[in-house]
Amino acid sequence: MTATGRSGAEILVASDAESAAGLAAERVASILRTSIESTGRADWATTGGSTPGPVYRRLAVAPLRESVPWTGLHLWWGDDRFVPSDHPLSNVQAADEILIGRAGLSGESGIGEYATDITAGRDVGAPIPALNVHPFPTTKAIGEGLGPDWCAAAYADELRAVGPAPRDGWPAFDLVLLGIGPDGHLLSVFPGSAALGRPEWALAIPAPTHVEPRLPRVTLNPAIIGVAGAIVVVVNGGAKAGVVARALQGEEEPGVLPARLAARGGATWILDPDAASRLDI
Ligand code: 6PG
Repeated sequence: MTATGRSGAEILVASDAESAAGLAAERVASILRTSIESTGRADWATTGGSTPGPVYRRLAVAPLRESVPWTGLHLWWGDDRFVPSDHPLSNVQAADEILIGRAGLSGESGIGEYATDITAGRDVGAPIPALNVHPFPTTKAIGEGLGPDWCAAAYADELRAVGPAPRDGWPAFDLVLLGIGPDGHLLSVFPGSAALGRPEWALAIPAPTHVEPRLPRVTLNPAIIGVAGAIVVVVNGGAKAGVVARALQGEEEPGVLPARLAARGGATWILDPDAASRLDI
């Protein structure tokens, strides 16, 4: 079912979480293809948690894999946990294992072997050039004892150097993919976050004590949501039905409910029936 919320956000209610991931993957592929075909490039700020894995799985195989000119993609992260990129709780893991990693094995990211070298039965993934994959430099920050503030500042420097052109003073991604936490957080911007209103493009966030994982984070400034070309929000499960309804049909300030920042025109919220169960649509 499709509806448009009071905020101007498009609301798609899928038949279940699997279908929601399919709809999200199709929308992601379409946004990336359109941008790359028109400008030669697409900058995608992806998300973490459990949301993106099923979306990546669909993008990494036919037909969606063949529908995106991946060499024009620059992949960024909206936020990450302050752990090394190869840590199981890193937001890089899901992308690396599902969407990107196999392309490296296939040689389509320019490291040599051909797809036939892939272990039988594994997908090659999306041929995203390795230099176009831009994780937060958490591994360096931790390995050299530089800390999360350095990590956030270094990421902001990388965005200024090779990221998308700014709009209204913020990096304007063609696509921001978001999940929403049970407390209504997005990126690593939690209710009451000091990140709201800060001028920095990226910030270090102390470990939350009310949601898992209770790890220090690094996040892009939530202001990027307001200048993004397109936003895709994927939410599943009845535990989030309340924050979904508050975000899409309430009036609370983002400081109380950061998810409200994504309740805007240009945003598509893709929900399973449980997550949509408190909406009056
Ligand atoms: C993270 C994410 C975070 C996530 C929400 C929803 O680092 O955890 O960036 O913002 O999108 O917490 O997570 P789930 O999809 O796992 O519920």
